[in-house]
Amino acid sequence: MNLIKANGYKDLSRKAANVISAQVILKPNSVLGLATGSSPIGTYEQLIEWYQKGDVDFSKVTSVNLDEYWGISPENPQSYRYFMNQHFFSHVNINPLNTNVPNGLANDPEEECIRYEKLIADLGGIDLQLLGIGHNGHIGFNEPDVSFEKTTHVVELDETTRQANARFFQSLEEVPDKAITMGIRSIMQSKKILLIANGPDKQDIIQKALFGPVTPELPASILQFHPDVTVVYSFE
Ligand code: GLP
Repeated sequence: MNLIKANGYKDLSRKAANVISAQVILKPNSVLGLATGSSPIGTYEQLIEWYQKGDVDFSKVTSVNLDEYWGISPENPQSYRYFMNQHFFSHVNINPLNTNVPNGLANDPEEECIRYEKLIADLGGIDLQLLGIGHNGHIGFNEPDVSFEKTTHVVELDETTRQANARFFQSLEEVPDKAITMGIRSIMQSKKILLIANGPDKQDIIQKALFGPVTPELPASILQFHPDVTVVYSFE
């Protein structure tokens, strides 16, 4: 595991963007696993800046996002599809047809999970997966559980996760109670993983995830078994 200490959020974002742009420069048709939440926003801003300067080209990239709330449309500003368009896709030259986010309004959630799982397999898996971490150790929306869920699945969100994400909604009641998330297997089968953690409130969970016991009660702890994980962190 490669641990990289950053000096504050801007530095963390630049270091994380460096890892992603190196991936895309070395393999222009990379499959990037992308993430939402507040942590990656600066990384996307940095990538957009470098794209505008002509340093990195996303025209051959395909993306698969980790997760999406269940029951809200892609046009809803709280949806992760909207977030990705807003914070990244609409600012770079990635082909919109090559951007993938689970469909939170699919008729049949179970079928949507099967479709998404097949899509990742058909793409040949993920070259580089960007991850944030929830306060309870979730990655994507893989919440603490008694076992690791391998494939894309519908998940009941923890109350603490809903509370943490309520800041993006008008009220806690508006936060969906379910989501579709990529499973642990697709994440673990990614060739490389880039985990970012920013702020003092993430220090404790990062320490437990990276140095404590590997348990489904702390989903990010499984990353200890991955052969190529880079963690960029700043606890300032
Ligand atoms: C959400 C997302 C996760 C993300 C987490 C942490 O729950 N599903 O992918 O890692 O939030 O978000 P933040 O970076 O805002 O702390």
